[in-house]
Amino acid sequence: MGNREHETYDVVGVGFGPSNLSLAVALNEQRVNTPGREISAAFFERQPTFGWHRNMLLPSATMQISFLKDLVTFRDPTSSFSFIAYLHASGRLPQFANNQDFFPTRQEFHQYLEWAQARVAHLVTYGSEVTSVRLPHGADPESAGHLEIEVRDVTGRGTRVINARNVVVSTGLVRNMPDGTECDERVWHSSEFLEKYRRMDPGELRRVAVVGAGQSAAEITRFLYDELPHAQVWAIIPSYGYSVADDTPFANQVFDPSAVDDYYYGTEQTREAFWRYHRNTNYSVVDDEVIRDLYRRSYDDEVRGTKRLHVLNLTRVSGVKRAGAETRVSLQAGLDGSVYDLDFDALVCATGYDTMEATGLLGDLDRFCLRDETGRYRVERDYRITTSPELLCGLYLQGGTEHTHGLTSSLLSNIAVRSGEIADSIIARPAKRDVNQAIPVEVGHEGG
Ligand code: FDA
Ligand code: NAP
Repeated sequence: MGNREHETYDVVGVGFGPSNLSLAVALNEQRVNTPGREISAAFFERQPTFGWHRNMLLPSATMQISFLKDLVTFRDPTSSFSFIAYLHASGRLPQFANNQDFFPTRQEFHQYLEWAQARVAHLVTYGSEVTSVRLPHGADPESAGHLEIEVRDVTGRGTRVINARNVVVSTGLVRNMPDGTECDERVWHSSEFLEKYRRMDPGELRRVAVVGAGQSAAEITRFLYDELPHAQVWAIIPSYGYSVADDTPFANQVFDPSAVDDYYYGTEQTREAFWRYHRNTNYSVVDDEVIRDLYRRSYDDEVRGTKRLHVLNLTRVSGVKRAGAETRVSLQAGLDGSVYDLDFDALVCATGYDTMEATGLLGDLDRFCLRDETGRYRVERDYRITTSPELLCGLYLQGGTEHTHGLTSSLLSNIAVRSGEIADSIIARPAKRDVNQAIPVEVGHEGG
């Protein structure tokens, strides 16, 4: 057991990506706006410094949402934490306006997030991985006023235990690899792309392949084609060419804050319709501009008679074997179902992600968490896991709520509003807890 801290926080946030950063900002603004009703908060992030999908900060990659969907604007357009406030502070507001573009680069948005996190840095500890959330040893859940959060210092300086009345889990997406495929020095998932790429001598990369037909795959394929002019680049894609991400105005309404209510309070059929008709706003799809860039490169190859970009349509990876320095990849071609092998110097699996999963962190607390008939968490509208009544403390999710709150759960589109809703809920909960704690006293009066 590590060091024990004595303060009991109103809320501890696990993970400090954009979602919990947005919550930290919401709580910070609440403190400034309503002195005397401060909520004490601490956030723990396992990365050594702030980083938002750093390994995919490719030079020309742009945001997939408007800059207005920043950490705060949809909740409070007057907040000093907006993207526009950041541009103003950076002296770039006129130039940004001249650029007439709603979609900044990911690199610029990353700088904005870094600027915002620096202003709430007193609330976050980096290099700190939360390993478990639990009730205090031997505690009765009905009287336990706090949970214990075990935090491991990633540099090996031990663990400590933090107490909190509420926990907000926001640990992000979980990488998905093709069956039978493990990451190593020549087989990479897109989430580790730049780090692993930079470890290689580019001259050694003469045959590279990228698996997947989503945004990550298309961006990495374009990057490798441009960075490695001597290399042959294969795009292994399950569809018949890349399909476009629908970001037209009517379809984009699925990311509006009001769509969360329509999804949450809708019927099973409503929810199913969201996925059936609008999955192509986000999954296995690519921005129009990137598709056109790739097609242009492929066509220019044909004109020059030097084909370097090889698109294998209707093809899935079914396994990978190491053969010395080469990576032997088994490919299943959808056209006739045949399986054949190709050797590459490096294989990038841009094969997407699974949804955030809190079960491992919650350990024994899981027995208080109610689940639906398919085994997924029941979640309240305020993003609190529905727990059996004896658990007084609150367990909130930012992420992992696609089945209850819809498509925005894993995205940035709604974080300003969502974190405001979570902050409001946490602020309201001490009052609820007092009511709960008063009940036994009243029952006692009635009985007496
Ligand atoms: P995120 O994954 O960003 O953060 C989770 C954090 O928790 C990480 O920093 C992780 O290190 C930390 N963590 C995990 N376990 C921990 C533990 N046990 N203890 C402590 N810390 C822990 N969406 C969108 O709307 N618009 C966009 O433009 C994009 N662009 C985009 C680009 C790329 C390359 C990807 C892969 C994804 C996107 N997305 C997106 C979707 C993406 O999910 C979203 O942008 C945010 O990353 C969601 O923020 P979160 O804070 O929820 O998760
Ligand atoms: P994704 O959209 O889930 O795409 C994964 C792709 O991998 C799909 O085409 C999938 O095909 C394919 N795949 C999975 N297993 C395979 C196999 N064994 N063989 C061949 N193909 C396989 O994942 P993503 O592209 O990483 O995108 C995830 C999220 O990040 C999205 O929200 C996206 O918008 C976001 N993103 C944003 C940016 C940006 O902001 N610029 C950049 C990158 C990503 P099936 O569907 O057939 O399984």
